[in-house]
Amino acid sequence: MTSLPALHRARAGDAVRAENPLRAGTVAFYPGSFDPLTIGHVNIVERGLRVFDRVVMALAHNVNKQAMFTLEERRDHIREVFAHDARVSVTVFEGLLVEAAVAHGATAVLRGLRGVADFEYEFQMSTMNHLLAPELETVFMMTEKGHFFVSSQLVREVASLGGDVALLVPAPVLAALAARLRK
Ligand code: PNS
Repeated sequence: MTSLPALHRARAGDAVRAENPLRAGTVAFYPGSFDPLTIGHVNIVERGLRVFDRVVMALAHNVNKQAMFTLEERRDHIREVFAHDARVSVTVFEGLLVEAAVAHGATAVLRGLRGVADFEYEFQMSTMNHLLAPELETVFMMTEKGHFFVSSQLVREVASLGGDVALLVPAPVLAALAARLRK
């Protein structure tokens, strides 16, 4: 049986909440490359906000990945898309995801799952993250049925070949893609 002291043991995020009442509530850390942000990502954030009080979108600084948009551009896209909702913020992190998540007072890492193709990689990552920070849970949301085929990689490929991606990305990203590909 779980002991009372164990039940009351502090969890990641409690310290931040106790220090600053304005930061009260549950925080999900939603990491990714978001290169670019798609309607699939937006949907995960919106549904994440039904479960968590705040979502911190966390742009990973990955030197090994060739990106289409700079970190600053991607951060600006996210800011513009979620400008109407103070519950969503964006940060850029380097190093271990779990350390950045705990530093932001998150109790969970939020990730979308499109299907079995995502599963293996996500299972490995969440298991590794749990080993590194057992107090941090990973919460997966199944992608909405109309979004299972949407990926940043396909959006980049289709857009750069002249295909129409208007239904797959939010308006600021569509404008940025058009501007980038005109160059
Ligand atoms: O959108 P992506 O590219 O699939 O996101 C991958 C991301 C950023 C979640 C992953 O690369 C990551 O967590 N990077 C941070 C470095 C880290 O903590 N690595 C160990 C994870 S098991």
